[in-house]
Amino acid sequence: MGGYIPPVDSQRVMIRMQDVVKRFGDQTVLDGINLEVYEGETMVIMGGSGSGKSTMLRLMIGSIPPDEGRIELFGENICGMGEDELNEVRKRFGILFQSGALFNSMTVGENVALPLQEHTDLDQDIIDIQVVLKLELVGLLDAQDKLPNEISGGMKKRAGLARALALDPTLLFYDEPSAGLDPVTSAQIDQLIVGLASKLGVTSVVVTHEMDSAFTIADRMAMLDRGRMIRIDTREAFDRLRRTSDEEAAQMSETDRLIRQFLRGDPDGPLTRRREQGDFEEALFGESLAITDFPSVEPTR
Ligand SMILES: Nc1ncnc2c1ncn2[C@@H]1O[C@H](COP(=O)(O)OP(=O)(O)O)[C@@H](O)[C@H]1O
Ligand SMILES: [Mg+2]
Repeated sequence: MGGYIPPVDSQRVMIRMQDVVKRFGDQTVLDGINLEVYEGETMVIMGGSGSGKSTMLRLMIGSIPPDEGRIELFGENICGMGEDELNEVRKRFGILFQSGALFNSMTVGENVALPLQEHTDLDQDIIDIQVVLKLELVGLLDAQDKLPNEISGGMKKRAGLARALALDPTLLFYDEPSAGLDPVTSAQIDQLIVGLASKLGVTSVVVTHEMDSAFTIADRMAMLDRGRMIRIDTREAFDRLRRTSDEEAAQMSETDRLIRQFLRGDPDGPLTRRREQGDFEEALFGESLAITDFPSVEPTR
């Protein structure tokens, strides 16, 4: 299980996942997840593809229910909430989806205005001011009257972010915010995430497998591996692990070496050995074996 870091006194827990299990059919996609996200921090959830990151996000925003365990947002248990109650909670957070998920028939400005029209009683002239403020915040004022297919991928992400900010959320979720962007645009999105966190004081949860991005934006990081949370710690702690020498690494536990390999993107190590072994078994038995035996996981503290 991931290392539990108790909150500093008075630090408010914005999200709490307790012993969360999620299955799809007979596949256990998340297996006993514990995670707390504190007010004002940027928590990065990382892990290889298929490790369960997006599923974790979908659970946190109440779009799918857990099979076991408990999920709290803003101190309220969202499991078992009805749609109406859940919709009230949803007004308090913003989500930036992988694609930006804009409506193509509407201008950027209209896309940003949409949540305000749907969820508030504000007059149109007040909404217009809000739209300008949000577009300004993400550096996209020039594109207000453009259609989504007239702007670049990076601009679409910005527009999606402006829309996610429309209702002044205190909590923001990002799923792979730099996926599909070139390195420079991706770095700009990272800076935007950092800027919003400091300017607005929002709490952010960012799912990513891109380590440059993770180390740029995170206060704390959580590492998922095949549905298990194997480490939750500060960015500094992960950075130290990333920088350990090969000699030091040779003395470390299998889990530490596995995390280190992931952080560094090394071609050789426990991660790839496991995959190669899987391929070998597949070749031998003609099918992929269900993964039931996880390496023992040591607590971090
Ligand atoms: N709706 C679903 N139905 C069945 N399997 C799913 C569903 N969503 C995700 N999965 C499976 O759960 C695992 C984790 O997926 P996901 O959370 O998307 O991983 P990640 O975002 O880390 O790449 C994958 O094996 C995926 O195929
Ligand atoms: Mg994903």
